[in-house]
Amino acid sequence: MIVVVQYDLFGEVKQKLEKRAEARETAAASPKPVVTRRRQRAFLGSPDALAHSIAENVTSGWFSHHGGGRMGIPLGTVATLTLLREPLIADWLLTLEPAQLPQFFKEVWAVQWLSRPDLVEAARPLHDWIEEEPDEYQLRAVQAVVHTSIHTGLLDLTAHDDPYHRSQADVLSPLLTGLRHKSDKKHRGEYHTPPSASDLMARVLIDSDTHVPGMTIREPALGSGGMFRSAAQTLRDRGLNPHDVRWFGNDIDRLSTACAAVNAIVWDLGPKVAIWCGNSLASPDGGLAKALTHRAAVIHHRNSVVEQAQFEHKARRMLDAFDRLLEGAPA
Ligand SMILES: C[S@@+](CC[C@H](N)C(=O)[O-])C[C@H]1O[C@@H](n2cnc3c(N)ncnc32)[C@H](O)[C@@H]1O
Repeated sequence: MIVVVQYDLFGEVKQKLEKRAEARETAAASPKPVVTRRRQRAFLGSPDALAHSIAENVTSGWFSHHGGGRMGIPLGTVATLTLLREPLIADWLLTLEPAQLPQFFKEVWAVQWLSRPDLVEAARPLHDWIEEEPDEYQLRAVQAVVHTSIHTGLLDLTAHDDPYHRSQADVLSPLLTGLRHKSDKKHRGEYHTPPSASDLMARVLIDSDTHVPGMTIREPALGSGGMFRSAAQTLRDRGLNPHDVRWFGNDIDRLSTACAAVNAIVWDLGPKVAIWCGNSLASPDGGLAKALTHRAAVIHHRNSVVEQAQFEHKARRMLDAFDRLLEGAPA
């Protein structure tokens, strides 16, 4: 479900559908549009089909290596790989032994924490297991997931510098729903909207007349954030910047919101994102006010840690300079 706060949703959709029909008629009579550079560089093949084949291969790799029932581990492994922006790292990653993977993963999350502590905090179920010393069987299964993801082409999709290219599919969505047990999925109603449908909805709601600064996009049943992806891509297609939008989304399921938080980084939704786990029916704002307070506290904590580290670094340099001065001084 997606709610664009300042719209009369149904009136707006009807009007836009009428406008689109008119525009289609005009376009049929006009020459073909010029293909932009961005379009020419678009991903070859179907990104969504690739996301599904990554999910299938990772799921079978995880279970055939007896990884166990903790979904956060295979999901978190793939999520960690989606945070890498250098496709050439794939060859090096394939050389790592299972026991070397946790340290590498910790470093990836630490780097992200410096820029997006709020989203890394929301993604906790995808990386908390790394600190819990996974056993050798789990680590072998994690290695199988790394190899399978790379061989199936995950980094071709997600390691792009350009957010437009790496936002062409939600790789975590089919993996999240695929790993979930059938009855659990039914109980949760966890059937994500197909990207073709969410793309269409976004194109109907957002056009070149859309006034973006000050706009809030609110998703009270977020899943892994597929609606946000469609909205962000449509904004980019219309020459608008997703960074100008406030993105507020929650889901009752912690793994879903964790995936959406990682996706918000991968899809580069910008600085004004709040994603939290909460029941939308439990309070009028679905927990938004509390989530914003928590987010501010997390960012404040990051700022204090960075300030402290900078202070210690400067103090260490001053002491080193002082030592060198004393070494040079006559006794
Ligand atoms: C059908 S999925 C839709 C996900 C996403 N909006 C999409 O279109 O792909 C429904 C989602 O709503 C979440 N959900 C169900 N009840 C909820 C509640 N009371 N508050 C927040 N989220 C809820 C589920 O966990 C699930 O992820």
